[in-house]
Amino acid sequence: MSLKLFSTRIQNVTPSFIREILKVTHEKDVISFAGGLPNDALFPLQQLKQASLSAFENKGSQLLQYSNTEGDLGLRNWIAQRYQAQNLEITAEDILMTNGSQQALDLLGKVFLNKKDAVVIENPAYLGALQAFRLYQVKFLPIDLHSQGMDLKQLKQTLSINNAKLIYTVPNFQNPTGISYSEENRQAIAKEIAKTDSYLIQDDPYGELRFSGQAKSNFYTLLPQQTLLLGSFSKTIAPAFRLGWIVAPKPVMKKLIIAKQAADLHSNSFSQAILAQYFEKNDFDQHLTQLKLHYGQQKIIMETAIKKYFPKNTQLTNPEGGLFLWCTLSKKISTLELFQKAIQQKVAFVPGESFYTSNIQQNTMRLNYSCADQKIIEKGIRKLAEIIG
Ligand SMILES: Cc1ncc(COP(=O)(O)O)c(C=O)c1O
Repeated sequence: MSLKLFSTRIQNVTPSFIREILKVTHEKDVISFAGGLPNDALFPLQQLKQASLSAFENKGSQLLQYSNTEGDLGLRNWIAQRYQAQNLEITAEDILMTNGSQQALDLLGKVFLNKKDAVVIENPAYLGALQAFRLYQVKFLPIDLHSQGMDLKQLKQTLSINNAKLIYTVPNFQNPTGISYSEENRQAIAKEIAKTDSYLIQDDPYGELRFSGQAKSNFYTLLPQQTLLLGSFSKTIAPAFRLGWIVAPKPVMKKLIIAKQAADLHSNSFSQAILAQYFEKNDFDQHLTQLKLHYGQQKIIMETAIKKYFPKNTQLTNPEGGLFLWCTLSKKISTLELFQKAIQQKVAFVPGESFYTSNIQQNTMRLNYSCADQKIIEKGIRKLAEIIG
């Protein structure tokens, strides 16, 4: 087959090297801190089973019929009410259900991005966003992340000389670093973007998983007309439902609905009905409390083990929620080389360099703590420390 048959768009996006090497982490006896999965022992299994039975009973054959593009109205109302409880003026009409928040990124690409358009991204950034936007052949404008958020000097300079259409952010418990933007950082970013006609994307799959500290302003309150807010049930209920959503101003929503229709007509209405039933009968906040309790404990266990076993010059972020810790080792160390040795010892993490689009810090690594218990976390971190030496 001639490779010329493929679009230039797909030819330009190679499979991520890191995803290839991470395949080995799925072997049974590997201690993996590499994935970004929620802990499956915490899925509300029985409650969802019950909710699906109720969905069959209540909806009958309508449960299996085609549905509307925007998504289940009851579910969108439920999402809107949670935003309203945080004083965000969002109604069901402002919400489009998507096939995970990953699809929201792709739809935004379809709606906004032409070849060579500029997209501001975090450096390091979520790999799925890089992949989604790369398919639209964009130019990335990376802004370094610090412990308090985006580097403001770089952002100001970048916005002043480029016409960026989108600014992509994960301000709460970022993937990969676990950092959150401070209140001052958010306000300063909003002030800069208000001078432009760009849109800020707040991708927020981890926002509800805060186990310490205080919630900060949602960009939607700081910049309501220019914020595109993405949410997901993947980390709070179950990723298999493939349900996320996007909140967008009306003119953008109109275009998103066209793009969504062209992509897949509508998101899975079966799983939306089950979720709507689940929320009707169960206390979601109580479920979240359980998740936060576990993840908060696991984070502390991993942090304590790293401080005990890793070299003293190791730097660590201090996430107040989410699933990840970010570790910076001595400058001499390449975590990609470390990964090859670690996998022989049956322990895995994600080397940091794949998350960077510039200014690569090859001595960094992402560690996921949500899926392992105390014993496994300690064992894995001790092994890693021995390999680092
Ligand atoms: C920052 C970020 N955005 C989006 C996603 C995609 O999530 P979903 O399962 O909702 O598609 C992830 C998944 O890990 C993520 O970390």
